Amino acid sequence: MKGELKVGIVGAPRGSGFVRAIQTVTETELVTICDINKQILEDRSKQFGIERKYTEYEEMADSDLDIIIVATPMPLHVPQAVMALKKGKHVLTEVPAATDLEQCWQLVQAVKESGCKYMMAENYTYMKPNVLIREMAHKGIFGETYFGEGEYIHELKGLNEITKWRRKWQTGRNGCTYPTHSLGPVMQWFKDRVATVCCLGSGHHYKDPRGDFYENEDSTFMICKMVRGGQINVRLDMLSDRPHNLTYYSLQGTKGCYEAPRGFGDDHKIWLKDYHKEIKWYSLWDFEAKFMPEMWRNPPEEALRAGHGGGDYFEIRDFVDCIVKETKPPVDVYDALDMTVPGLVSELSINNGGIPVPVPDFRNINKFPDDLPDILRNSNMISVQL
Ligand SMILES: NC(=O)c1ccc[n+]([C@@H]2O[C@H](COP(=O)([O-])OP(=O)(O)OC[C@H]3O[C@@H](n4cnc5c(N)ncnc54)[C@H](O)[C@@H]3O)[C@@H](O)[C@H]2O)c1
Repeated sequence: MKGELKVGIVGAPRGSGFVRAIQTVTETELVTICDINKQILEDRSKQFGIERKYTEYEEMADSDLDIIIVATPMPLHVPQAVMALKKGKHVLTEVPAATDLEQCWQLVQAVKESGCKYMMAENYTYMKPNVLIREMAHKGIFGETYFGEGEYIHELKGLNEITKWRRKWQTGRNGCTYPTHSLGPVMQWFKDRVATVCCLGSGHHYKDPRGDFYENEDSTFMICKMVRGGQINVRLDMLSDRPHNLTYYSLQGTKGCYEAPRGFGDDHKIWLKDYHKEIKWYSLWDFEAKFMPEMWRNPPEEALRAGHGGGDYFEIRDFVDCIVKETKPPVDVYDALDMTVPGLVSELSINNGGIPVPVPDFRNINKFPDDLPDILRNSNMISVQL
């Protein structure tokens, strides 16, 4: 079925990151791009040789597409996904899935009613070391997993002024406002979801160019108590002056542990009770030959050029597979909300001295907002307008 699935992208800058992958996957054809910024639209469509372009999203959503990739600012993910689903399109949206609880509910309803596939593009779950650790964790190599960490340290004060939505939705709210890259992979290793979060921050030490302190504290720490009793700690820092580290993770189980590098010559390291006599670090890559899943063994050359070390290619490949084979998307709407909602409700925790806040499971919400825990039903997390 070469090129049978027609793809449109809304939000050209980040959306461009998917182009090589769409062109590499044989079943898909990129036919159009939409962006309200005419200059960006012109530049990107020229770059990729796309003739059909839109500045009005609804017009694109009304057209003969099979798949829409939503790569616009965070608060638009749900409205644009819902519109596409209602028009019978399969949807891949950027992270996070939603910006308030009402949006989560709307998204679930639209997915259920549409019969179409929805997936959240949590690309860090496709990164090579994360895929290898997932495979090993699911095979029980770490024993029972009970502690993990994820850190996303990405100083973006300058980017806030160019992509102004970030100044509202990422640094203009308090709490863990961009959680999915850190939480997503570790949650998959655990095969569990977050039951409760407590969130605290390190205070406010930076001001924007207008002289206002950022509403988001410099480093926020979200402690996630998992349903089965384990714990994942998530650190988010978009403000501190320092080098980036977007991909620090760790995992502890009853039979071993893993730590990602924090840079400066460090590598992915592991210790496993059943494999190592001495208690010291060994290279994760010693286990690549035995445990690396098939998709990462012989990736096509084009895949490796597709962005995020090949992760963007595998993400599109998986999304297309779930459409073609009619299977569950690897990060479906409920998985997407499991990765997103802890961050949303962390705002209530951090604004109330770090109190524990329950994380609703949208699989069990039949009536909204009635079925939410009291603390959330009576909070301003239901609908957030900035
Ligand atoms: N997964 C990742 O690694 C990753 C990386 C970067 C960004 N992102 C996510 O991608 C999204 C976009 O981020 P970005 O850095 O490209 O932001 P950006 O501001 O550079 O791009 C957003 C684009 O959307 C366009 N847009 C805004 N409203 C629109 C509308 N109503 N209709 C059509 N176009 C509209 C803007 O003109 C702009 O060109 C965000 O949600 C962000 O969280 C994810």
